[in-house]
Amino acid sequence: MFPDSVYQKLEGELSRFGRKELQEASHRITQAYRLDENSSELFKDPVVQAAYLAVRMPATFACLSTVMASLSKDHKTFLDLGAGPATGYGVLKILGFSFQKAVFHEQCGSLFKRGYGLWSDKGLDYTQTLHTTPIMPSTSLPDSDLVLMGFFLGELSPSLRTSFLQKAWSACQRTLVIVEPGTPDRFRLLKQDREQLIQQGGHVLAPCPHEGRCPMADSDWCHFSVKVDRTSLHRSIKQVTHPYELEKYSYLVMSKEPVNHRNTARLVRTPFKKTGHLVLDLCTQAGLGRRIVSKKDKTCYKKARKYVWGDLIEEKNI
Ligand SMILES: C[S@@+](CC[C@H](N)C(=O)[O-])C[C@H]1O[C@@H](n2cnc3c(N)ncnc32)[C@H](O)[C@@H]1O
Repeated sequence: MFPDSVYQKLEGELSRFGRKELQEASHRITQAYRLDENSSELFKDPVVQAAYLAVRMPATFACLSTVMASLSKDHKTFLDLGAGPATGYGVLKILGFSFQKAVFHEQCGSLFKRGYGLWSDKGLDYTQTLHTTPIMPSTSLPDSDLVLMGFFLGELSPSLRTSFLQKAWSACQRTLVIVEPGTPDRFRLLKQDREQLIQQGGHVLAPCPHEGRCPMADSDWCHFSVKVDRTSLHRSIKQVTHPYELEKYSYLVMSKEPVNHRNTARLVRTPFKKTGHLVLDLCTQAGLGRRIVSKKDKTCYKKARKYVWGDLIEEKNI
């Protein structure tokens, strides 16, 4: 998933630390995530930074890549809040974005620089600013075409979250992307973010194919999953044997411009394959719905067999 050059640099970076200390640091990251702790103290430790690059960055990279793959490449200014090890920058670089200006806010400057070094090869062809003072409600943010908050908002208290969201939305000139771990609690917060931004005139670009009330039941949560291959180094540091992990995430992409959803539907579960038909669970403009695609309908069935959880589908095809 990462280009070979990035893996090589990553291995070089990790070789500066002992395997045992990386394993312990990886364990500390897992514990902190389980307890939903703010990562500010944790990330001050260089071994934890290195372990994050090895075991968490591939997963956040995979989620951000999936979410941002469908964005238009003509966003020219980028603002990344809680940029961590420059994961968002790496994703956009691989996706082929080119910026005139990028502003990064990451309170742990050494983590950012450690990660950024993996992606940058040539001299900068854009203006870059890194702010390492923690963002506060009073921090002024520059107007930017694309604003990203990847696995960041969840680090804030609920009251700070509302004001940070407001700030990010004011700075956003075109597209705001929020990605969070795919847990019920984080989804509930994201659902509130969605309401807050719609009330402020925002338009939902994804994942919802509409701007109506979120139809997800309180007992359920809208989330997606991405397969993350584990390298042998990753497995060794995490002390696991399985060759991949499934990273769950929830997300929201909001636009300042009206969005034409046409007649599309989002696949909110993995399609069930039954004898003679496929079952698709969808979020549509009319709410949540189930479609059965029969094998007898050859054209639709042929297309539907290729659908995966998270796909946006034209309703005429089902
Ligand atoms: C879970 S990491 C995610 C990093 C990155 N966006 C990614 O997707 O890999 C969250 C980051 O937010 C940073 N952070 C948390 N609160 C912050 C604040 N108030 N100002 C700046 N950075 C902050 C942390 O230092 C951490 O690096």
